[in-house]
Amino acid sequence: MVIRDDCLNALKKMEGESIDMVYLDPPFFTQKEQHLKDSDGREYTFSDRWESRESYLRFMRLRLEEIKRVLKKNGSIFLHCDDSASHYLRLIMDEVFGENHFRSEIIWTYKRWSNSRKGLIPGHQTIFYYTKTANFKFNTIYNAYSPTTNIDQILQERVRDTYGKASYKYDDEGNVVLAREKKGVPMSDVWEIPFLNPKAKERTGYPTQKPVELLERIIRISTDPGDCVLDPFCGSGTTLVAAKLLGRNYVGIDSNPSAVRLCGQRLECPAKTESRLLKVGIDSYKTKTEEELALLNTLGCDVVQRNKGIDGILKTYYRNAPVAVKIQKKHESLQEAADLLCRAGNKKRCSFLVLVRTSRSAGDQEAAVPANMIVMDSPELLLENELSNQCSLYGVKSAQML
Ligand SMILES: C[S@@+](CC[C@H](N)C(=O)[O-])C[C@H]1O[C@@H](n2cnc3c(N)ncnc32)[C@H](O)[C@@H]1O
Repeated sequence: MVIRDDCLNALKKMEGESIDMVYLDPPFFTQKEQHLKDSDGREYTFSDRWESRESYLRFMRLRLEEIKRVLKKNGSIFLHCDDSASHYLRLIMDEVFGENHFRSEIIWTYKRWSNSRKGLIPGHQTIFYYTKTANFKFNTIYNAYSPTTNIDQILQERVRDTYGKASYKYDDEGNVVLAREKKGVPMSDVWEIPFLNPKAKERTGYPTQKPVELLERIIRISTDPGDCVLDPFCGSGTTLVAAKLLGRNYVGIDSNPSAVRLCGQRLECPAKTESRLLKVGIDSYKTKTEEELALLNTLGCDVVQRNKGIDGILKTYYRNAPVAVKIQKKHESLQEAADLLCRAGNKKRCSFLVLVRTSRSAGDQEAAVPANMIVMDSPELLLENELSNQCSLYGVKSAQML
């Protein structure tokens, strides 16, 4: 169900203790007009401008009190905010739900392109997780062990001495004591989930839309199938989509008619973008060998992954333009490598191109390279060349003796 209303009115009409979990992503007190267009040119806006911080906090407190009333005794609330007002909101949450019912401060972190702002780039938002009582529903999610975990950490029982120092447990005969079967590492409160990219299937064009993946995690840890999830500031309906995909019931509220319309459309065909980054991990984006990385580092390059023609860009621009670097691959002739670099470098309007030759072959003499391309031998090739010159100068025998 999706309701179009101020959530305070809608919440007041709801039955007490009827909801298992509430997620809210309200205006953050950015003092901005939030505005975005979708791919068909439809505009979505909502206001995050306030007379004062006090008026914003009053608005939030009233709604949080109503949310507490509709939550079941074993229910949970997740309040999404950012550093515009998170420090004030946490105090209000303590007052409304009780300090002792604070469970976690979840950090949603993501990579951001650098901007020109002076200072640190904002790379996270905060989700305050509270429960209505101490008797709350929680489903642990387990993650895979990190690559630094060794087999003993997975299999062996550990004990703590009187100083709290942990060590592996052995029985009286000195044999290792096996731990109970483990399911992995319980999920932490820092969640790295990519922001929706402009081409993501689930992207609607609604400002501040959150990823379904983020809501799925929240719903999974705090509810079971058939439970009821409420989002009183549902926007484009991300929470409702995640709830539907996971077999939970849902109630969404938003005062913006275009948001409610959008929710209806999204719920007809709920979609989630599979994040390649989450599925296969960051390592699958790395296409360079250790040797290539060392070489690019020596040349002073920023490494470029997943590009056929360019492996690195020099940190220093020449003639106000980037300089592209490519390392010849084992299977490439010098001409093939030069063509790939030329094509990619021209596209990126590079002033110079640097091709690092890694092997010598008979056809190299005929290779045609443009005037702005510098072909240099890799250190291994230079050394090999120097040694074979020495061998021919002094004869193989003396070279071997040296
Ligand atoms: C940050 S957005 C929510 C975005 C949403 N989580 C998503 O993924 O699309 C906040 C929403 O709160 C709505 N809103 C603002 N004041 C409201 C109020 N008093 N009652 C209900 N909705 C309100 C806005 O229209 C906006 O859609």
